[in-house]
Amino acid sequence: MNEPIMKGVAPINAPSYVKHQKLIDWVTEICALTQPDSVYWCDGSEEEYDHLCAKMVESGTLKKLNPAKRKNSYLACSDPSDVARVEDRTYICSANKEDAGPTNNWMNPTEMRSTLQPLFAGSMKGRTLYVVPFSMGPLGSPIAHIGVELSDSPYVVINMRVMTRMGKGVFEVLGSDGPFVPCVHTVGKPLAAGEKDVAWPCNATKYIVHYPETREIWSYGSGYGGNALLGKKCFALRIASTMGRDQGWLAEHMLILGVTSPEGKKYHVAAAFPSACGKTNFAMLIPPQGFEGWKVTTIGDDIAWIKPRNDKTGQKRLFAINPEAGYFGVAPGTNTLTNANCMASLNENVIFTNVALTDDGDVWWEGMTDKAPDHLIDWQGKDWSPADGINGRKASHPNARFTVAATNNPVIDPEWNNPDGVAIDAFIFGGRRSTTVPLVTEARNWIEGVYMAATMGSETTAAAAGQQGIVRRDPFAMLPFAGYNMSDYFQHWLDMGKKLSAEGANLPSIFCVNWFRKDDGGKFVWPGYGENMRVLAWMLERLEGKSKGQENIFGTTPSHADLNWSGLDFTAEQFNKVTSIDKSAWQDEMKLHDQLFEQLSYHLPKELVDTKKALEARLVG
Ligand code: OXD
Ligand code: MN
Repeated sequence: MNEPIMKGVAPINAPSYVKHQKLIDWVTEICALTQPDSVYWCDGSEEEYDHLCAKMVESGTLKKLNPAKRKNSYLACSDPSDVARVEDRTYICSANKEDAGPTNNWMNPTEMRSTLQPLFAGSMKGRTLYVVPFSMGPLGSPIAHIGVELSDSPYVVINMRVMTRMGKGVFEVLGSDGPFVPCVHTVGKPLAAGEKDVAWPCNATKYIVHYPETREIWSYGSGYGGNALLGKKCFALRIASTMGRDQGWLAEHMLILGVTSPEGKKYHVAAAFPSACGKTNFAMLIPPQGFEGWKVTTIGDDIAWIKPRNDKTGQKRLFAINPEAGYFGVAPGTNTLTNANCMASLNENVIFTNVALTDDGDVWWEGMTDKAPDHLIDWQGKDWSPADGINGRKASHPNARFTVAATNNPVIDPEWNNPDGVAIDAFIFGGRRSTTVPLVTEARNWIEGVYMAATMGSETTAAAAGQQGIVRRDPFAMLPFAGYNMSDYFQHWLDMGKKLSAEGANLPSIFCVNWFRKDDGGKFVWPGYGENMRVLAWMLERLEGKSKGQENIFGTTPSHADLNWSGLDFTAEQFNKVTSIDKSAWQDEMKLHDQLFEQLSYHLPKELVDTKKALEARLVG
């Protein structure tokens, strides 16, 4: 922490190492609008992090956990009205409504600017404006991009330090005129002179706004997660997807993992699953009994930025980085059985949000242990006992989170920080479906793969506010994250495939999975978690041309004999339950694809309509 907090907003007093006049002018302009009491330029140091944490402990925003239990870790509990991403308050303000498309909320940019102007005016009164420089991806990587978030939330600052490469070094990369995505964030709760702050300031009015043409983000009223940590969903997905469209690359809601065979051959897989469908578990998968000698390592758990380039042999391939530096994961359900690597990542240096506090100063959440402690303070600060749990009152919020550095992960991939990225061998797409969609299918070609991903559906979960447990179409797991028209996004994937094939690229294979099929009694049939390795290993055999599999209506699937069952008793009958294709259920499913295509009819690629017709013909054939 090398600069004192600077009082007074004019002049802005940027540290001497900031050489970017346009950036300084922008900070000046935002200060004039939001009128903070002071401005602080974050350097990203540990000292600064510790100082901000100490201040937040003092103000009641954070509780320091018992260091003997969780070293250097904190608990934040949010306002009960501010617990998840607010998709209904999230806007893509492109000049033309069609460019945002029917899956995004849209408002004309001029109208949105005049809506936001009075909200942001004076919104930071009584607070400090923090200048948070961050790089999405390793500093200076050819796949990385830079953002600067101006926020009045110190909670946002400490989370951004964990989730991104945040600090002084970013200004060196920016130099005097480098490009950056400007992000403005306020909790929307100005303080009058002498007014005492609350532990979690926020505003009932919320706006999460993206201007794709000018590549700007403006967020008002929430301090929580993807609403406020603007590097994540807002920049790394919504704005970056439009950058990718314009510049010929992909910004995807995908984990990236490395998988190494006992012979030492390494593959890289990028997988898209909707929010809270076990992405973190898959990214940290522990190979089960029967897979001794296999190793799975994590490159990323949520987002992938993927750019084409030649490898060392001159072969064009898709190279991916994880633009983030930490994990903002869902805590409930995580335990040493479901994800031992994740639990091990949470031993120290963690920011927990909305989990419960134990009497000995540790944290607890539903699913962490079979038996809940006899007494807890719940995420809303109230006494809680197991009897409350029986009555349906949860101790932690279902969307409670941990924020932790990727380097805490015991199975972090040695290449995770490689600025050149890793070459992707396969894409996996998977939703949460109790019925219909089989365990695994490989698309016969890129276009079929794009079709599978485009028509993916999933039962909704707690990551977003709103109704849960209903199936919604979630194309590419990007429904809430595509920063432009979804049909144009499909077209971009098709165009990338076409162009790269024409250039002789080695394109990744595309697979579709479903870990969540249930039996008639409503129980999951597939054991999931580490056992997903069996499916992953089959995919790698396919890449090597070692497994023929069998062709069905949708693509290629394994038979029971194609998977390695060593260490697991899973009968052919059980396998049939997770792989069977019920033609009448699929005929109904195709009607849902029709509905999706109707909704997306503007610019819907003809290739997808043709693929649908071919699938339907096979379905009746
Ligand atoms: C998340 C999500 O990663 O909602 O938080 O997808
Ligand atoms: Mn996500």
